[in-house]
Amino acid sequence: MRAIVTTRNGLVDVLQVETRPDPVPGKGEVLIRVKAAGLNFADILARQGLYPDAPPKPCVMGYEVSGIVEAAGDSIDPSFVGEPVIAMTRFGGQAELVVVPVRQVSRKPETLSFEAGAAVPVNYLTAWALLVTMGGLKMDEAVLIHNAGGGVGLAALDIAKHIGARTFGTASSSKHEFLKQRGLDHAIDYRQQDWLPVLMNLTANRGVELVIDPLGGSSWKQSYRALRATGRMGVFGMSTASASGIRGKLRALKAVIQTPRFNPLGLMSRNKGVFGLNLGHLWGEGDKVAGWMHEIMRGIDEGWIQPHVDRAFPFDQVAEAHRYIEARRNIGKVVLVP
Ligand SMILES: NC(=O)c1ccc[n+]([C@@H]2O[C@H](COP(=O)([O-])OP(=O)(O)OC[C@H]3O[C@@H](n4cnc5c(N)ncnc54)[C@H](OP(=O)(O)O)[C@@H]3O)[C@@H](O)[C@H]2O)c1
Repeated sequence: MRAIVTTRNGLVDVLQVETRPDPVPGKGEVLIRVKAAGLNFADILARQGLYPDAPPKPCVMGYEVSGIVEAAGDSIDPSFVGEPVIAMTRFGGQAELVVVPVRQVSRKPETLSFEAGAAVPVNYLTAWALLVTMGGLKMDEAVLIHNAGGGVGLAALDIAKHIGARTFGTASSSKHEFLKQRGLDHAIDYRQQDWLPVLMNLTANRGVELVIDPLGGSSWKQSYRALRATGRMGVFGMSTASASGIRGKLRALKAVIQTPRFNPLGLMSRNKGVFGLNLGHLWGEGDKVAGWMHEIMRGIDEGWIQPHVDRAFPFDQVAEAHRYIEARRNIGKVVLVP
């Protein structure tokens, strides 16, 4: 099979399409012929050497795929073979074939293309955990979605609109028109201006009940300030560190130095909460995650979850796909097709 290999840390030239042995499904696993594989910010950070959860290099990245079940291991119902599916993969998804434990596999809704199917697991599970499970977002509450035009951001917007929350989002200005069409109530350009005073102005100085922040460093300080009483902040990334080589290491160090420290007594007296999420550390919570996926599938059936694929790049153009995300050009999901 052909697979995208991150050969070492570096710029996009470290990405190579190589031939690897076909994997074989074991007990409780299925072999999937990949039709589309999600490209996530984690894959960019892994290439830059800034993602501690990445496997040792050379490695095949990829947390999610859509495709067709090609073979079933022992104890799997053989009628599963031939089914279109979507799946979470603990790496290895950016390949023509991947083996996955069956509990991480869902049938692909007929209404979704394979590209759209590959845009579901990481973005929507992350957004679900942040908004619903941990963030407890309620109707009429206000939510600030940072990086609202990204993959997780658009997923969060779908879910927040369904809940009936008031939505505020930061994004590069080129994405604002699209975001408004998708139902975002207030788009804020956080790159040309200090977003906090704009948000406070829009909320009559109250702030919001929930912020989800994947930027890290000093952004977490600002986001915490944006919370009104009973507000919660969910932290889930460090995009601000993104850069290759020594620049990335320095940015990561700066982000760590600027990370605020929260004191339980301070949280108590201000009626605020702070929580963190790492979907990649929930492999031991399969039942919980499957429950979230069930709700997401229901959202797809009912039409309030609409994964948006910006571009599909062939495997051979993986370098271009990484550059596209690093240049902040993507709106929603980027997928790779064999
Ligand atoms: N903890 C978890 O479980 C988990 C799961 C999934 C994703 N994440 C994190 O969530 C964030 C979004 O992930 P995603 O996969 O959905 O990617 P994405 O949103 O598609 O990421 C690309 C977008 O991020 C924004 N961005 C902010 N700072 C950036 C920077 N320094 N360099 C390049 N782009 C930057 C840009 O949009 P604008 O300029 O328009 O804002 C860019 O278009 C990432 O930090 C990722 O690591 C965490």
